[in-house]
Amino acid sequence: MNDFPDGFLWGAATSAYQIEGSPLADGAGPSIWHRFSHTPGLTANNETGDVACDHYARYADDVRLMQALGLTAYRFSVSWSRVMPSGTGAVNPRGLAFYERLVDALLGAGIQPCVTLYHWDLPAALDDRGGWLNPDVALWFAYYADTLVLALGDRVPLWTTLNEPWVVMDGGYHFGPLAPGHRSLFEAPLVSHNLLRAHGQGVLAARAAGARAIGLVVNLEPKYPASDQPGDLAATRRTDAYMNRQYLDPVFRGEYPAEMAEIFGDAWPRFAAADFDLIRTPIDFLGINYYTRGVMRDAPEVLPLRAERVPQRQHITTETGWEVYPDALAAVLEWVRDRYGDIPLYITENGAAFYDPPHAIDGAVEDPLRVAYYRWHLRAVRDAMRRGVDVRGYFAWSLLDNFEWSLGYAKRFGIVHVDFATQLRTPKSSARFYSEVIRTRGASLGQ
Ligand code: BGC
Repeated sequence: MNDFPDGFLWGAATSAYQIEGSPLADGAGPSIWHRFSHTPGLTANNETGDVACDHYARYADDVRLMQALGLTAYRFSVSWSRVMPSGTGAVNPRGLAFYERLVDALLGAGIQPCVTLYHWDLPAALDDRGGWLNPDVALWFAYYADTLVLALGDRVPLWTTLNEPWVVMDGGYHFGPLAPGHRSLFEAPLVSHNLLRAHGQGVLAARAAGARAIGLVVNLEPKYPASDQPGDLAATRRTDAYMNRQYLDPVFRGEYPAEMAEIFGDAWPRFAAADFDLIRTPIDFLGINYYTRGVMRDAPEVLPLRAERVPQRQHITTETGWEVYPDALAAVLEWVRDRYGDIPLYITENGAAFYDPPHAIDGAVEDPLRVAYYRWHLRAVRDAMRRGVDVRGYFAWSLLDNFEWSLGYAKRFGIVHVDFATQLRTPKSSARFYSEVIRTRGASLGQ
């Protein structure tokens, strides 16, 4: 029996600001990431996405590389401020043309284009108007979604509204390591709610414009208690609500988890009941990004969650300090099915940063830890599928080593190595491994 059905999407993922470079080319406007990375002291070594993987110029070669690897799908994001320099209103035809060329090149290579509308790079002009804090963002986003789907909807089978709303809120507005770098307990819930409203409006707009399938991408990190003490169990429950249920409960059940008010206290607003009708607009699929789990213990001094992560030294950890724990991927897929129903699922990101040298050695980059990571996680996906979970595709994060946000270029997540001095691409052993998995439709994973 073949575990991975015909039509299963074998992909890799990227995002616009992390790979494209040329952020202001051809009439594009700046994004919040352009501003953030150009503010001294906010990213490692003050690195920016000015050049990144130069994908804006090299996209055709990159598509050929994907074809050579045997990928059947590619998940990328559109830079909103390339297409609409002021975030709303006039469209910049030269910016849009880049995505038309990319989509056509992918289709020509037999690769399904899967488009994320928003992967963290809000037009700076909209940040000037309050960004995700301004309730109008839902309408700005709907107009942008409508424009993109009208332009590309006949060629794009899979659309997603937002990538990881939790990270936008937590990193961008609550704790501040990511653009726009705010640190506010009071802003965080407003941003979450506006993200969800924008998602809902975006789904309605994309569908009205003819999108074949539209969904949402969330990052899930299953939480495990460090012990069975009541304090650790409660800490686990709070962090699980904050990270794993804060967006999915409203989207699928029309309400926030009860723990949100407990976590945010006075900062948790009363939201209009009518908003939840919009937020729970049905979606066609859910995308799940999975990297690691969290083992949690009670920590009354760590506010507002009163919880902290307990490092797990018994397993391999990645360069970003994340425990390698594939069982939680199978578990979270089953949890989603059991809690939210039998909706088609895609693993829209999964991967790891491990140390790779800056330059290939004798034309090769050997990355045995990343190979092991992919083997174990692909087996976990297969296990969940054997238990009846409806997984329709898998996307490695990432196709290319790229700009890892405030961590800069030192953290390499690619299955293809990028030499940032020369832009030379070298498929790592993990790319060869993944190619073989695709070629054998999973048989090479072993049992
Ligand atoms: C994001 C990517 C990021 C990756 C690794 C995900 O949260 O969607 O943009 O590079 O994780 O940190």
